[in-house]
Amino acid sequence: DLNVYINGSCSNRKFEQGGVYQTNLYYLLSNLTSNSDTRKFHNFTTGERPNTVYGLYLCNSGADNQLCRDCIKAASEGILQTCPSSVEAIVWYPLCMLRYANHSIFSINDVNPYFPLIFGPTKYSQFNQQLSNAFIGLFNVASAGCLSLASASTVSQLPGNMLLTSSVDCTPDLRPSDCRSCLQTALGRLHTQGQQYGMILQPSCRLTYTFTETSIFLPKGLEEIESMENLQIDFETIKSATYNFSDSNKLGQGGFGIVYMGTLADGQAVAIKRLSNASGQGIREFKTEACLAAKLQHKNLVKLFGFCLERDEMLLVYEFVPNKSLDRYLFDAKRGALLKWETRYKIIVGIARGLLYLHEDSCPKIIHRDLKPSNILLDGEMNPKIADFGMAKLFGGDLTQGNCTSRIGGTFGYMAPEYTRTGHFSSKSDIFSYGVILLEIISGNRCLDINNAQGENLLSYAWRLWNEGAHLNLVDSALGKNDFSKDEVERCIQVGLLCTQEDPDKRPNMASVLIMLNTQLNISMTLPFPPPILPYYKQEKSADLLGSSGVNPMEDIMTELSPR
Ligand SMILES: *[C@@H]1O[C@H](CO)[C@@H](O)[C@H](O)[C@H]1NC(C)=O
Repeated sequence: DLNVYINGSCSNRKFEQGGVYQTNLYYLLSNLTSNSDTRKFHNFTTGERPNTVYGLYLCNSGADNQLCRDCIKAASEGILQTCPSSVEAIVWYPLCMLRYANHSIFSINDVNPYFPLIFGPTKYSQFNQQLSNAFIGLFNVASAGCLSLASASTVSQLPGNMLLTSSVDCTPDLRPSDCRSCLQTALGRLHTQGQQYGMILQPSCRLTYTFTETSIFLPKGLEEIESMENLQIDFETIKSATYNFSDSNKLGQGGFGIVYMGTLADGQAVAIKRLSNASGQGIREFKTEACLAAKLQHKNLVKLFGFCLERDEMLLVYEFVPNKSLDRYLFDAKRGALLKWETRYKIIVGIARGLLYLHEDSCPKIIHRDLKPSNILLDGEMNPKIADFGMAKLFGGDLTQGNCTSRIGGTFGYMAPEYTRTGHFSSKSDIFSYGVILLEIISGNRCLDINNAQGENLLSYAWRLWNEGAHLNLVDSALGKNDFSKDEVERCIQVGLLCTQEDPDKRPNMASVLIMLNTQLNISMTLPFPPPILPYYKQEKSADLLGSSGVNPMEDIMTELSPR
């Protein structure tokens, strides 16, 4: 039974039967109950001093509207039976908590009284580390700051057909840092010997976990955040984290606004993006997109902790990634030399994994739309993390930023040709951008930088070298002649060429890209030869040729393709 009383606490001080306090309390409880139809958290105050009653309730993240209402109904009746005539009381139910007092209990982190409830067979102690990792992950989410709810839950797949379901809930009137500290206190009180079920109940927050054996497997990726109701962070928190957006905290100017480095009250380092030009955007859409992006968890995606909407400001709060963006390394002679082939290969594969997750495993599927080296951040171990996913849809493609995104000298840069031509976008347009980035990582050149006599851009140059069998000449001179695996480089170049084909249907999807990158066999045997890529200026020429001779020049070129 979900509406069974778990535990509670009553003050020894009693109010007078039939007195004003009792009337106020009854009124308070009926107000709380009626609000539970639509809200998971509500606080209310009623009555004149000295008979003022303060009350609130919180339903768990797992309770829908109806379960919440049923729970609060049971709790408001139960609290009168459990604590008859008590001036102050709190009760816990499996899906909710309800409390009242004769003093304000709002926006205060109360950690006492508390109840641990830990039971079930003790055979799960080998998962203690995963358990605390899951909670710490949830703390980040829940304490990202929430106006209406500060809840998070997750299901993790563990070895041996084991699922760990864990959830945390703070009352959302707490400041984010208080929510975190409440949860940390609770975790410190979780002394489990490997029991199957656990729960720590505190007035301002609770945490719970359950181990279940199952044959159901989660979709790829070990963790999936199930629910995360509110990620809103208040403006004051962000202001103080960035010393009022001080210039010394500026990390740079990103596609959609200025990025600041910040430190939250609990020491968590964050990058805060202050969106410029966001005024045209609906608040609802912004929230939806931000919540969506925040639900995504993958080691090759920059984690979005939360967002802030206040005073015409739209801000996004991300995990801080120390080594800044790929372009700062790749296109800089000194820093480029730091990128050994192993690192470059790791980056190539990492970006592919992140994109695969966005394209295939996230729900709903996400097209990045603005993939480029300045959107690839590098962590302390030079693992790539894709930034700004899901945002381009809201804020319009970043067409004006960066030289590669506009049509200069007959190239299209990172934007797929079908996009620049018709505005049509699909995951295959991301694949095109990925191919360009891949060739840039190999060559150390920006897609527009090659200005040889033939007027070639990186794509046409790479393509010509491939046809001449001289593709290894593409490799960045910052890499020593023998400091890379010839096989890997060849494979990567070919994948880059396949990804940047004119026809989106011919480009591989991200899953095939990863398979090709990981195929150790001789590439000329296992990969199809890429058809030609035709940048605009070449395509126009081809069209002329076709018109005058009646021969399709593409067929000629295709038969010649082969790395020698
Ligand atoms: C609810 O709590 C907030 C503080 O978090 C307080 O400012 C507000 O007055 C409370 N509302 C009621 C109706 O008591």
